[in-house]
This record gives sequence, C-alpha cells and structure tokens, in this order.
Amino acid sequence: MAIERTFSIIKPDATHRNLTGAVNAKLEAAGLRIVAQKRIHMTRAQAEGFYAVHKERPFFGELTEFMSSAPVVVQVLEGEDAVAKNREVMGATNPEEAVPGTIRKEYALNIGENSVHGSDSLENAATEIAYFFKDEEIVG
Ligand code: CMP
Repeated sequence: MAIERTFSIIKPDATHRNLTGAVNAKLEAAGLRIVAQKRIHMTRAQAEGFYAVHKERPFFGELTEFMSSAPVVVQVLEGEDAVAKNREVMGATNPEEAVPGTIRKEYALNIGENSVHGSDSLENAATEIAYFFKDEEIVG
C-alpha cells in the first residue's frame, strides 16, 4: 500500500447544516489526514470547470448551480490508499445505496445534495487538487 493524496469537497448541503466537523471526524477516524483545507464559495464558472467531465449529463446545470450556491470546504486528504479509503468512507453516490456508517448514508439528502465529493482515481486526484490548491498551501 502506498501513501496517497486525494481531493475532497464538503458540499453546500453539509456546510449549510453545520456538518463540517462531523464529516471531518469521519475522515479522520478512517485514518485520513487533512493536510490542506479551505472554505470557499465557488463561482458558477469554477464549478463548471471542475465538473467539465459531466457537461453532457442531464444533471450538469443542477449540479453546478448547487455547488456554487453556498460555501464548500475543499480539502486535500493524505493516507495509505487515500483515494480508495476516502471513497469507502464517503459511501455510494446515491445515499439510498450507501453502506450504514458512511458519510453519505448518515448525512446526504439525495443523489445531488450528497454532502461530499471525492476523487475517483489517483490521476484525477492530482488534477482536482491542482484546480484548487497551490503546492505551498499543502503543508502536510
Ligand atoms: P460527485 O462525486 O460530486 O460527482 C458528480 C456529482 O454529480 C455526484 O457527486 C452527484 O452529486 C451528482 N449527480 C450524479 N448523478 C446525479 C443525478 N442523477 N442527479 C443529480 N446529481 C447527480
């Protein structure tokens, strides 16, 4: 197993309900270290750029409107197998399908307002981290 870095977002539905600490507690309990973190309010253009891979999907408008509707917390998480570990602790995209104890099972409202985002591969993690963080902002 290797030490990896992955990218995470605590989404507007979670920040709005004051769940930043609750989500972070789950991440840390899973062995992930939050090595960078900032609260930002994304512009619509930033959200569209971040989710560009989904631009042909029917939910793209809804997704980017939601992600730019209120503050989010963007994070870099570090740990052994961080990409897979974060996806495990997040749970399935649709909270109805998520395993009990996962972040989405406990906190997500629906498939769109699903509390967290996490990179799906090491390659995408590097791209997504670079979209929001400069190297010097990741302090370990
Ligand atoms: P995320 O991990 O941020 O990556 C893309 C997001 O699109 C996903 O989480 C969901 O929040 C959202 N999404 C996926 N499917 C749907 C859907 N059918 N309707 C609305 N949003 C969706």
